[in-house]
Amino acid sequence: MAKARISVIGAGLMGHGIAQVFALAGHDVTIYDSFAQMLASAKERILTNLNDLGDDQSAVDRVTPQADLAAAVRDADYVVEAVLEDLPLKQQLFAEIEQHVRPNTILASNTSVIPITDIMQGLKRRERALGTHWWNPPYLVPLVEVIETQWTSPETVAFTMALHAEAGKKPAHVKKDVPGFIGNRLQHALWREAIALVENGICDAETVDTVIKAAFGRRLAVLGPLENADMVGTDLTLAIHKTVLPAIDSRPGPSPYLESLVQEGKLGFKSGEGFRTWTPAQQAALRATVLQHLKAARAKDA
Ligand SMILES: NC(=O)c1ccc[n+]([C@@H]2O[C@H](COP(=O)([O-])OP(=O)(O)OC[C@H]3O[C@@H](n4cnc5c(N)ncnc54)[C@H](O)[C@@H]3O)[C@@H](O)[C@H]2O)c1
Repeated sequence: MAKARISVIGAGLMGHGIAQVFALAGHDVTIYDSFAQMLASAKERILTNLNDLGDDQSAVDRVTPQADLAAAVRDADYVVEAVLEDLPLKQQLFAEIEQHVRPNTILASNTSVIPITDIMQGLKRRERALGTHWWNPPYLVPLVEVIETQWTSPETVAFTMALHAEAGKKPAHVKKDVPGFIGNRLQHALWREAIALVENGICDAETVDTVIKAAFGRRLAVLGPLENADMVGTDLTLAIHKTVLPAIDSRPGPSPYLESLVQEGKLGFKSGEGFRTWTPAQQAALRATVLQHLKAARAKDA
């Protein structure tokens, strides 16, 4: 793919990381944020990451901070939005962006959970709009879900898939704009049962996590559930489901146990207690373990 002009709207946790990935892939990146401080520190944060990962530091030279939204998007081939998770804000931004871009500039939102359809419904040219759901940190986690709406053109999807694949990401095409896309539906199906096991006194929270990390979690990075089902046989999978599915949690809403933790102010790391208690040292150690693991996986991929 030829060098593209990418515009990243929002220079926060996700935005600066997304800008970093595209710049490292050789594209010219303009980054915009309404908070001067976030914009001013974006290049420095990108440079720190590049240094830390041993990536080409000159990539940061391809990133241009721009404090004027119209100027930030005017020449863009592709605009990706990563501002606060707020529907009216995103709708308003895209309405404004659409006034300044070319008719064929692709517009993407990195929303976590807001339907892409809701964000893009007011646009004049909805065929060039879609979702791209990156995972944090964007420069370490390979997946980007590419979500089409009922209006998105096949050309828009194809360009976006190719853009991300060539930037070293693993794009996954989500053909319908459903809540949670693919990744968070799968992740939270597991979390629901994890919470129910504790709630029902079958084991404690630490045991749930140990069972996952020491068993199928070990395989998950290289063996997906449907590969696994084929490996053991769909007939065995059917037999297991006949016994297990009626017994696992299928309540349609959040667990009352989770609701009560929140009501009691047991908010996890930020309050020192959630499902478990966490000292600052334990929190730091777990964060370091995750980062180390993601970095090692990226190094292995390279
Ligand atoms: N953090 C994650 O793990 C994660 C993962 C996937 C998707 N997302 C989504 O990505 C988006 C950004 O999340 P984040 O974690 O980077 O948040 P963040 O708070 O780190 O960054 C948001 C940025 O938006 C800027 N901003 C606020 N209003 C703005 C405006 N009117 N115009 C321009 N910039 C504005 C803020 O100054 C800030 O720099 C959200 O939609 C979030 O749901 C987050």
